[in-house]
Amino acid sequence: MNSGRLITFEGPEGAGKSTQVKALKDYLIKEGYKVTCTFEPGGGPQLCTKIRELLLSTEHGDISDETELFLMLAARAEHVQSLVLPALSDGDIVICDRFIDSSVAYQGYGRGIDVKTIDKMNSFAIKGRYPDLTIVMDINPELGLKRAARTGALDRIEGAALSFHESVRSGFLSLAQEGDRYFVVDASQDLDTIKCEIKDRVLKLLNYEN
Ligand SMILES: Nc1ncnc2c1ncn2[C@@H]1O[C@H](COP(=O)(O)OP(=O)(O)O)[C@@H](O)[C@H]1O
Ligand SMILES: [Mg+2]
Repeated sequence: MNSGRLITFEGPEGAGKSTQVKALKDYLIKEGYKVTCTFEPGGGPQLCTKIRELLLSTEHGDISDETELFLMLAARAEHVQSLVLPALSDGDIVICDRFIDSSVAYQGYGRGIDVKTIDKMNSFAIKGRYPDLTIVMDINPELGLKRAARTGALDRIEGAALSFHESVRSGFLSLAQEGDRYFVVDASQDLDTIKCEIKDRVLKLLNYEN
């Protein structure tokens, strides 16, 4: 059980998470590792896709902060149960674009929900299977949102006030102080520099533990 490794990518919009997830996946596959690449919210079975649509849609107007959190956690529980844990049992390296720390940063530091409550809910949703490594891609929100806008219209959460995104950023940075599973990368650097920093840290994880 759980013989694989779980690597998560966190950070504000436009930091370059999806770009680096893909680069790391391609690199690890080339090196012969078995990789499962996924994301939150919405990765996993169709139920998760539907919850993502509810979360990001502007169609239902404002939803309460608590509802937003429960929807995120519902999608997470289903994703972990039906995709993440089975892949880890198979010995895969699972790379997940956003995971538990996004709930703490967005719904906790951003929206103001008690962080300890979110921690407990996270632990419950993931059945206590925490990531082995979390790459925190740190970026000034103004630059991040400018980059994110290039990939299309901003969704309900991306479109929130800049002060919200600043709280989210400091949330990620506070979290990163809390444990040694975190690795902070300066995401304003060029793509290749970031790629190398991440690759070196991931290889350390794989070599120490295998
Ligand atoms: N280091 C970088 N420097 C400049 N542009 C970048 C960098 N990383 C990503 N981008 C660009 O910024 C945009 C957002 O990147 P993306 O990987 O989708 O971010 P995220 O998944 O964190 O929201 C994309 O257009 C991407 O090509
Ligand atoms: Mg992305």
